Amino acid sequence: MVKNICCIGAGYVGGPTMTVIAAKCPHIKVNVVDINTKRIEAWNHSDVSKIPIYEPGLSDLVQQARGRNLFFSTEVDQAIKEADMIFISVNTPTKTYGVGKGMAADLKYIELCARQIADVAEDDKIIVEKSTLPVRTAEALKNILDNTSKDVKFQILSNPEFLAEGTAVQDLLNPDRVLIGGEQTEEGRKAQKALVDVYANWVPSDRILTTNVWSSELSKLTANAFLAQRVSSINALSELCEKTEADVNEVARAIGTDSRIGSKFLKASVGFGGSCFQKDILNLVYISRSYGLQEVADYWEQVIIMNDHQKRRFASNIVKTLYNTVSGKKIAMLGWAFKKDTNDTRESASIYVADDLLNEQAEIVVYDPKVTAEQIYADLDYLNTRSSEENRKGVTVVNDPMECFDQAHAIAIMTEWDEFKDYDWESIYNKMLKPAFLFDGRMILDYDNMEDIGFKMYTIGKG
Ligand code: UDX
Ligand code: UDX
Repeated sequence: MVKNICCIGAGYVGGPTMTVIAAKCPHIKVNVVDINTKRIEAWNHSDVSKIPIYEPGLSDLVQQARGRNLFFSTEVDQAIKEADMIFISVNTPTKTYGVGKGMAADLKYIELCARQIADVAEDDKIIVEKSTLPVRTAEALKNILDNTSKDVKFQILSNPEFLAEGTAVQDLLNPDRVLIGGEQTEEGRKAQKALVDVYANWVPSDRILTTNVWSSELSKLTANAFLAQRVSSINALSELCEKTEADVNEVARAIGTDSRIGSKFLKASVGFGGSCFQKDILNLVYISRSYGLQEVADYWEQVIIMNDHQKRRFASNIVKTLYNTVSGKKIAMLGWAFKKDTNDTRESASIYVADDLLNEQAEIVVYDPKVTAEQIYADLDYLNTRSSEENRKGVTVVNDPMECFDQAHAIAIMTEWDEFKDYDWESIYNKMLKPAFLFDGRMILDYDNMEDIGFKMYTIGKG
């Protein structure tokens, strides 16, 4: 029976997942380790509302388990030594160099973890891949572990994470399914069973699926590709709706009631973001291409092409509507996170829309309830489109939303934060220059009400 778990990587996946395991399994000691000292200090902050990741319900669970059987530290070697089971939850960004640049997943952190484990492990361990990985990564991991370690045996499991940010705690407490891939040998099945037993502390057994390793790895990429494909499909239709007199919300509702289609992931938007969708599809495309499956690769790549188009056309529509120039015009952007209820901004559509508007010399003011100014500038600097001084000159970040609107030419809603719906839109209208343009990239405001107030409205997917 597993008594001691170590998780390498205290990020958006490792942090919440380990917190829930610790909360539900008081008999298991859980050590979450990370090389980032600042991040670990934040996880250990005496005020649990200051932990580095904002997720509804997470702080309470951390409060409950931290110091009891949940520990955050930078002592990676020690935690590896103690553990029966090691989760690898480090990031696997898209490669920015060399072969597969812009497409393949960069596995250097995974490899470093494997080498470190091989180096310090003194007894047999079960290694669990939590990071999303290209198919057949487990094989590479096994190779490194088997060839570099002493007399120690490793079993490798794939246990992809399906939690969505903003609902991570609920998704972990009550998952649709838990997927555990393992080697189809006696030892493999034993390791699989050990992890099944951990989850069985709170997940009904019919929701714990076991497969071979490759099916499990590929299922994660496939799940994200299917979800992203639905968003790109409805976004493709949103453009057609704008040209006709159809309303994409009505179309989505009409098709979503077909039980074969289902109602989820049919919300048209300014484009999907997040750390997974784009990365995982690029990965799928890259893998397909590397096996010579051109049609398969092209098919999935189109999901990304459509998403890039959706972001770009939102920005160009703002420019076009504001009489073909936004130079020197103040544009208020509401929301920077890639979706509501998270402070995560990775691949957020706002980054790309802001970048396009800055190229047109707009003056941008951003308000997001959870994202810091530092993060917003870092996201723009990362694109390398202009110097960081220029980004700071073009973009102002405010802590009070009401500071955004004075003399603004337009507002762009980028994230569907609930609080935006409750603003006093009439007084906001009064502060703005006229005509006051409002671009709703998330379809959260009532079109007719806003037009009645006086706004010139543009809503995604409404003709
Ligand atoms: C996760 C998964 O791991 C990724 O594959 C998946 O597709 C998305 O979610 P996430 O938890 O969101 O990544 O990443 P991040 O928040 O960046 O956390 C990773 C952590 O690993 C960071 O805190 C980083 O400091 C740490 N890390 C990285 C290590 O501790 N050691 C390393 O060698 C590399
Ligand atoms: C996703 C998967 O849902 C999750 O299972 C996996 O583990 C990680 O990747 P996440 O990226 O956290 O989760 O959020 P998700 O809710 O899937 O949203 C992704 C993006 O799609 C967001 O930018 C969201 O705003 C957008 N989206 C989602 C839409 O535009 N329309 C929709 O109908 C749904």
